[in-house]
Amino acid sequence: MNNKSIFIKNANQMITLKGSSSTPLTKEKMSELNMIENGAVWIEGDRIDAVGTTEELLAKYKNKLEEAEVIDVTGKIMLPGLVDPHTHLVYAGSREEEFNMRLNGATYMEIMNNGGGIHATTSKTRAASEDRLIEESLVRLDRFLLHGVTTVEAKSGYGLDWETEYKQLRAAKKLDEMHSIDIISTFMGAHAVPADFKEKPDAFIDLIIEEMLPKVAAEGLADFNDIFCERGVFTPEQSRKLLEAGKSYGLIPKIHADEIEPYEGAELAAEVGAISADHLLRASENGIKRMAEAGVIGVLLPGTAFFLMAEAAKGRKMVDQGVAVALSTDCNPGSSPTCSTPFMMNLACMNMGMTPAEVITATTINAAHAINRGNEIGSIEIGKKADLLVLDVPNYMQMQYHYGMNHTDTVIKAGKVVVK
Ligand code: NIG
Ligand code: FE
Repeated sequence: MNNKSIFIKNANQMITLKGSSSTPLTKEKMSELNMIENGAVWIEGDRIDAVGTTEELLAKYKNKLEEAEVIDVTGKIMLPGLVDPHTHLVYAGSREEEFNMRLNGATYMEIMNNGGGIHATTSKTRAASEDRLIEESLVRLDRFLLHGVTTVEAKSGYGLDWETEYKQLRAAKKLDEMHSIDIISTFMGAHAVPADFKEKPDAFIDLIIEEMLPKVAAEGLADFNDIFCERGVFTPEQSRKLLEAGKSYGLIPKIHADEIEPYEGAELAAEVGAISADHLLRASENGIKRMAEAGVIGVLLPGTAFFLMAEAAKGRKMVDQGVAVALSTDCNPGSSPTCSTPFMMNLACMNMGMTPAEVITATTINAAHAINRGNEIGSIEIGKKADLLVLDVPNYMQMQYHYGMNHTDTVIKAGKVVVK
């Protein structure tokens, strides 16, 4: 804990997203931002102690100013630290040769069905020691932090056997302790059908339900339970069975849905009460409607569409139809090898028709809600964790206008300056 108070003053625009802690934001609320001009924040320990204009806080804390660390951000903007609610952070190796194959016409699913893709990373992850996984993942976490990300969700799913899934989940726990970024874990034993279960995927689902879920729950290794529901991977029936079983262990459902083909994944997310449905490139009209009604957050991954050279999800339409949209990198070695959440914001504007205001909501408070942390992070409000991002732009629209650049100036994580 910090002993010294921190006073950040003179933010040209301070985007607070005040009042959004209890439910994710939808429709026009995604554009509100609740901005304060010439904004300031007072931090005590790891918490936000006061939020207001610089004048207000100067008056309130005039007797404490001398002992505080003062950070002047004149000419810059301040927002909550970015939250990335969908990553496959912990894995070994890379797959640039597959990228080359795809540039030459091979498809993502062809590569996977020929033993590459997720299977290739599974082999490398099985072979890697826990220390090696930690070492490789730390590099990615450092990159996330430099892009202003202060919390990431991390999925297992490159084991497809208990030993390796357990190794990934343990690594994620250790990374959470070692690195200033907070890591929220998801169990994704059902990321692909392993080779030895190729002819009997139902038996693999049963194995996960009977052998793995109880251990994940007993050791508190994850908050969420995720599955790749896609033709040729797991069916909606298998997905329903696994997600319902996870619920009985207190694991909240998430789902990789309608990424390559429409497969009623969005509908299933609504039916099982998933906290989020992710990807959704090919989600049906009805699926989008059902998600909006059921309050399922749509976690959109525009980098995956970009890198797979596919048409992006209908972000504009989802926002207009009342889905609470969040954005994420999907950071993984196959379909989206990036740690730049800000670039996802650029892509969401350019390829999904979202606005600069909406993409900020989608990477802060809505992303926090997508990992069940809306009460703790994602907005600048009294009592919340002091996770803050200062960007070297004079207004929030310039963050998207000057695209493809890293505007990070300062990152504060839990009341500590971690990037300056
Ligand atoms: O979210 N779609 C499935 N899983 C990951 C990709 C994993 C990989 O290719 O290694 C995704 O895109
Ligand atoms: Fe993913």
